[in-house]
Amino acid sequence: MAYVIGIDIGTSGTKTVLFDEGGRKLASKTVEYPLYQPFDGWAEQEPQDWWDAAVEGIRAVTAGVDADEIAGVGLSGQMHGLVMLDGDGRVLRRSIIWCDQRTAAECEEITELVGAERLMRITKSPALTGFTASKILWVRAHEPEIFEKCRTILLPKDYIRFMLTGERATEVSDASGMQLLDIERRCWSEEVTDALGIDRGLLGKVYESHEVTGVISKEAAGLTGLREGTPVVGGAGDNAASAVGCGVVEKGRAFTTIGTSGVVFAHSPTLCCDPKGRMHSFCAAVPGEWHVMGVIQSAGLSLRWFRDNFCAGEKEEADKRGVDVYKVMDEVAAASPVGSGKLLFLPYLMGERTPHLDPYARGAFIGLSSTHTRGDMMRAVMEGVTFALRDSLELFSAAGVTVGDMMACGGGASSPLWRQILADVFGCRVRTAASNEGGALGAALLAAVGAGIYSDVREACGAVIGEGVVCDPDPERAKRYDELYRIYTRIYGHLKEEFGALAALGE
Ligand code: XUL
Repeated sequence: MAYVIGIDIGTSGTKTVLFDEGGRKLASKTVEYPLYQPFDGWAEQEPQDWWDAAVEGIRAVTAGVDADEIAGVGLSGQMHGLVMLDGDGRVLRRSIIWCDQRTAAECEEITELVGAERLMRITKSPALTGFTASKILWVRAHEPEIFEKCRTILLPKDYIRFMLTGERATEVSDASGMQLLDIERRCWSEEVTDALGIDRGLLGKVYESHEVTGVISKEAAGLTGLREGTPVVGGAGDNAASAVGCGVVEKGRAFTTIGTSGVVFAHSPTLCCDPKGRMHSFCAAVPGEWHVMGVIQSAGLSLRWFRDNFCAGEKEEADKRGVDVYKVMDEVAAASPVGSGKLLFLPYLMGERTPHLDPYARGAFIGLSSTHTRGDMMRAVMEGVTFALRDSLELFSAAGVTVGDMMACGGGASSPLWRQILADVFGCRVRTAASNEGGALGAALLAAVGAGIYSDVREACGAVIGEGVVCDPDPERAKRYDELYRIYTRIYGHLKEEFGALAALGE
């Protein structure tokens, strides 16, 4: 029996999972670590913490397994984070990670240096604070003594690859989020790197996701217990890896994740873009293909906010019955009618990425009346988050990406009510996957392809991914949600200026 390992370097922790070649989970270990937020809008992590977590995870899941039977290792992880190494491979500073927002000035500089039109054409995105390029420019401007010493720039999961294999490499899906890749040609853009004055020698070699990028070094073998020479494949950014982990690797297939933030992701054999860059167009973990992706800032976060501020009663009831508070909230919200009695919620509690790209947007209930109850507000929150996710689907469709089948992942997918709302608002069948290992499974399947167990990514998914629950839309409810969605989409435009004015007010 051959085994494969998937390592997912997340923001709250690193999850390492051992699978057999049929995708069955045999052992899993998650090790958590801190997020450092020294100033408002800053977010950093210590690469050594990721490495310690990966070593501990690998040791834990391989205990009792013959290292010779491990056919390969795949990596997945949080995208966009900047890791800088000196000439001896030592980390020069903490990693500035994806949710850090300090680089507004550097984004303006990037637009100026490359030109807005060329930047869109090559990287398929306007300059974004979340992406890596602006973080590199920030270090160059604010910490020149560190930048001087930098000889290697890597993404979070690619730092783990470096520690495992000694290779300085990345792969197309994660590199897409650096704003330095030519998304169409799947290689570093000479034009963008030259305009920004970033030496391409600092960047790793770019592979496709399933390709072998190196093998476990003698030193890493000693630390992890893996066999020296075990192949490590490219892997993928967290969302691209999750797509493989739930079988979203063909035209028409898509998934949505309701975690703290929300993601809508669709596979596309051709490169499709929004001319304004309101959705991401990145290289997929399938060679020569792409995906589109919308990200909303506050999906599960909106419901958690509501729970923490207004649901003491539901919490008490849940404690009494010994169930999760979200189960009780589901029951209460389910008693409210479709459309929550004409109450709409804008879920922009932390600003918004897709489609508004507006850090100043804020949340709102619209249509409140004296007849509304807490249950109506709870349901409106779930519906409002789902409308915000539908905005991404509309962008996909305008860009020519059609979605016929939607997988639901993340915490929200475990709510039967939310799954039904998703099916009704999206107007398509919503399914869950049998395994909820997402990114780690995707990374492990890429390793299985790299090790030759499967001939390609689609064959691996076809052999391994099982189906969970299926939820079909109801035509009547879908019609009602269409009417409400049309009104929902107009509200932000009416409030945009007021959100800006509120942001400009002193504390
Ligand atoms: C994707 C993104 C997040 C991070 C962290 O663009 O910012 O999904 O990868 O999970």
